Amino acid sequence: MKTYEESIEACKDLNELEKIRLKIFGKKGFFSGEFARLKSLKGEEKKELANSLNSAKDSLTNLLNEKKEKLELEFINSSMQKESVDVSLFNASTSSGALHPVYETMNKIIDYFVGMGFAVEEGPLAEDDFHNFEALNLPKYHPARDMQDTFYFDDGMLLRTHTSPVQVRTMLSQKPPIRMICPGAVFRRDFDLTHTPMFHQVEGLVVEPGNSVSFANLKFILEDFLKYIFGDIKVRFRPSFFPFTEPSAEVDISCIFCKGDGCRVCSHTGWLEVLGCGVVDQNVFKAVGYSDVSGYAFGLGVERFAMLLHQIPDLRSLFEGDLRLLEQFK
Ligand code: DAH
Repeated sequence: MKTYEESIEACKDLNELEKIRLKIFGKKGFFSGEFARLKSLKGEEKKELANSLNSAKDSLTNLLNEKKEKLELEFINSSMQKESVDVSLFNASTSSGALHPVYETMNKIIDYFVGMGFAVEEGPLAEDDFHNFEALNLPKYHPARDMQDTFYFDDGMLLRTHTSPVQVRTMLSQKPPIRMICPGAVFRRDFDLTHTPMFHQVEGLVVEPGNSVSFANLKFILEDFLKYIFGDIKVRFRPSFFPFTEPSAEVDISCIFCKGDGCRVCSHTGWLEVLGCGVVDQNVFKAVGYSDVSGYAFGLGVERFAMLLHQIPDLRSLFEGDLRLLEQFK
């Protein structure tokens, strides 16, 4: 008996304790042997042994249970300590995300213009008619408003259809000289292979006192910019129309896929249209209270640049959040 108590006391783990329990209470263990022996005894002797066996059984059961509880608790505590995770630790195997191709492209564009001394301006996404249209020489009922199918709110406010209202806001709050770009989201009621209801533009505006800014300045900076982004390409300016610029132009680059030979992407023309620009119309300056100034402006679609740089055929895939697409840009 004493030795059983001692071995329970000294036991250090649950498996060992179970072995001891079997030695005492198992089918071939101590008690089954002793109780079997009881059958061969009689009278006082039998009673005495039965009593002492029963009390030994009780005390050993208690001892075993107490020890079991203690060992279980120790086991839980030590495994909690061993398996605990320090969430603040750096884990080199954790995979990190990457910039969305639209933002990566936008950053490249911003980098160029910041390097050229342009400030980065921002404006609200919900605009009023004055900033989005009126001040940009787009009066009510002007047919050119149809170029940009607009989301209107009930109170007459609208989601800006281009980043050009930020030109207006910047001119209203600053004095020339101005040299700024505005990157940001814009909204139009459009949805197909090359149009999504939300996309991103980068607007540019330069204004100087007097008549020192000309189309030549605009031409130089855009050519330099497009070569910075697309590498060794040709650039051409095509006459176009925007209400806020006069003269206006659309700018093409030689197709980066076929080097100008003609392919599916450039519709076999050898050219890809990439932005709109022009010399700022004096009516725009009038609307913001400027006089005796000159300037140029331009606007481009960031998604178009991202699609060309990464050869993404469907604009909509940029906004589906499909990780299989996004993981290619890590
Ligand atoms: N706002 C024009 C658009 O969304 C883009 C644009 C063209 C901006 C010419 C300009 C510009 O500032 O001069 O289609």
